[in-house]
Amino acid sequence: MGKPSTVTSNHYSQPNLSRLIDTALSEVRLLNQTLDHKLISAIDQFHIGGLRATMDMIRLANFMPQDLVLDIGCGIGGPSRTIASECNCKVTGVDLDLGYCKAARTISKSLRLSDQTHFIQANALHLPFEDQSYDAVWTQHITMNISNKNALWREFYRVLKPAGKLLMYEVTCTSDDKEKIKYPTPWASKSEDSFLENINNYKESLNKCGFFIEHLDDVSSMAKSSIKSVIERIKQNGQHKPGLEIVLGGRFSVMMENLLDSLNGDQLNVVRLLAAKSSS
Ligand SMILES: C[S@@+](CC[C@H](N)C(=O)[O-])C[C@H]1O[C@@H](n2cnc3c(N)ncnc32)[C@H](O)[C@@H]1O
Repeated sequence: MGKPSTVTSNHYSQPNLSRLIDTALSEVRLLNQTLDHKLISAIDQFHIGGLRATMDMIRLANFMPQDLVLDIGCGIGGPSRTIASECNCKVTGVDLDLGYCKAARTISKSLRLSDQTHFIQANALHLPFEDQSYDAVWTQHITMNISNKNALWREFYRVLKPAGKLLMYEVTCTSDDKEKIKYPTPWASKSEDSFLENINNYKESLNKCGFFIEHLDDVSSMAKSSIKSVIERIKQNGQHKPGLEIVLGGRFSVMMENLLDSLNGDQLNVVRLLAAKSSS
């Protein structure tokens, strides 16, 4: 099996996360009578493009209310809550980091979404679910943390029902020459913890596993403008307005600058993909 590193887990660990989240939720609550998933999206959508990227992916997914969705590498649960709220689906989020799962549960409780969203600490390569138990598997910015993509696809394929959907929103590299990519990035502190691959390798290995690719698009332009506005926000407000720096700490700003440099230098792409399992 591939390497789901403890290093990766350390990269994401944030010792005071629950306290920081509580403070951020209180600040948002002061301004708004009722919290909803959109109001806190600056804090809990842990990927490029935030809520907008998740909403775009939901449109692509075309979920039905009865669908059971598995959000792999769910972080603190923003996308899971958005899917649950927008599509009325039941969503299970899985993350390697126990602190993230706890924070995800706390936020879901505050938003009265505990019945529709559940969070479980588990490794994406060893999912604690029966074969053919989910209608859709969803990932946003997690495959860069996992070296053995074939093992990951096999696990996704195993838990999906026949004709189940795989939705992915991921950062890929453009060539095998990864020397120019700068670290830290939001997913890895150093290159040894980053398992970037070319989109052609994704397509080939997904096909080999049995998936049919139904949609693939490059959303790097959207990614660049979104990162630029985050950098601008940090510059203008210092680090005061709640944002993803709550989760990633003081290095968030440099991570975003590095990511933008690598996208501008065409070393990285951001892609969105929909694939399906065969119906029999
Ligand atoms: C960049 S964050 C994205 C979080 C979430 N998908 C979102 O978009 O808000 C990547 C997440 O993947 C999780 N992760 C990394 N490797 C994993 C693995 N092998 N199994 C489960 N989760 C993993 C990390 O703990 C982290 O929460």
